[in-house]
Amino acid sequence: MSYFSNLRILITGAGSGIGALMAEQLAQQGAEVIVTARRKAAAEAVASSIRDAGGRAAAMVLDVSKLGTFTAFRERLHKAHGPVDILINNAGVVFGGEFEKVDLKEHLNTFQINATGLMALTHTFFNDLTQSRQGHLVNIASASSYVGLPYGSTYAASKWAVLGFSESLRLELKERGLEHVAVTTVCPSYIDTGMFDGVRAPLLSPILSPEKVVRSVLRGIREREPLVQEPMIVKHIDLMKGALPTPVWDFLAKTTGMSTSMKKWKGKH
Ligand SMILES: NC(=O)c1ccc[n+]([C@@H]2O[C@H](COP(=O)([O-])OP(=O)(O)OC[C@H]3O[C@@H](n4cnc5c(N)ncnc54)[C@H](OP(=O)(O)O)[C@@H]3O)[C@@H](O)[C@H]2O)c1
Repeated sequence: MSYFSNLRILITGAGSGIGALMAEQLAQQGAEVIVTARRKAAAEAVASSIRDAGGRAAAMVLDVSKLGTFTAFRERLHKAHGPVDILINNAGVVFGGEFEKVDLKEHLNTFQINATGLMALTHTFFNDLTQSRQGHLVNIASASSYVGLPYGSTYAASKWAVLGFSESLRLELKERGLEHVAVTTVCPSYIDTGMFDGVRAPLLSPILSPEKVVRSVLRGIREREPLVQEPMIVKHIDLMKGALPTPVWDFLAKTTGMSTSMKKWKGKH
């Protein structure tokens, strides 16, 4: 029996990238995964490859920007499979470029998917998590939850929001005697999934493999860690930023390539 046996896990944006890999690995470790994506074909491809490998998976369509659909989605999920034990809020988008040249629609969409949708889905599934003996909320944030990200300001803003939301909810659950529900916030630097194609990795922060990040996330869930930060340097950002005067921090951000890493962002398309 693994930690994940008999747990039902809902993952958003699981048609590609670390979402798909988490679904595969969690299923290998005995979980029943609900693979969701905004396109049916993407969710079904991941779920059927899990089933072919002997795992338990179902595909469902869920667009996390469509907040008004969440209640009906939960009802459909409950009817077909039952309540979930773990919610992994993984779906995310980024639109890089000089701030005013990126369409406002893309900036607002980034916030709607990465932050507002994540909070609304957590609200919808909150009772599932509190009613499970192993309830767990996992929010995929980013290393940019800690630093400003030039050429990606609304992405960073959305991920700062996710960190603030996660951390607040974790403390609130404790205050309310609901600490059987764990909250894990995941803050990785750049990962090689295509989402950030074109970026230049800053010093001391090499581009991570999806496998390494997913290994850390699964360990973080098993050990009910509040934070998963990759690579190591991310663990020290808060301390460095707090200790250094702003001009020194800005100089460091510039010379390590943090401030310019997004300048040549192309993304997947
Ligand atoms: N890659 C990195 O460097 C990096 C670093 C730190 C954090 N992260 C975070 O990690 C998470 C996963 O990203 P990834 O690297 O695995 O890239 P990815 O393969 O692009 O995964 C993002 C997923 O979110 C889905 N998505 C986008 N909008 C959605 C919506 N409205 N409703 C439902 N799903 C939606 C995408 O589906 P479509 O294919 O339909 O667009 C895609 O499957 C994201 O939250 C990202 O911000 C990534």
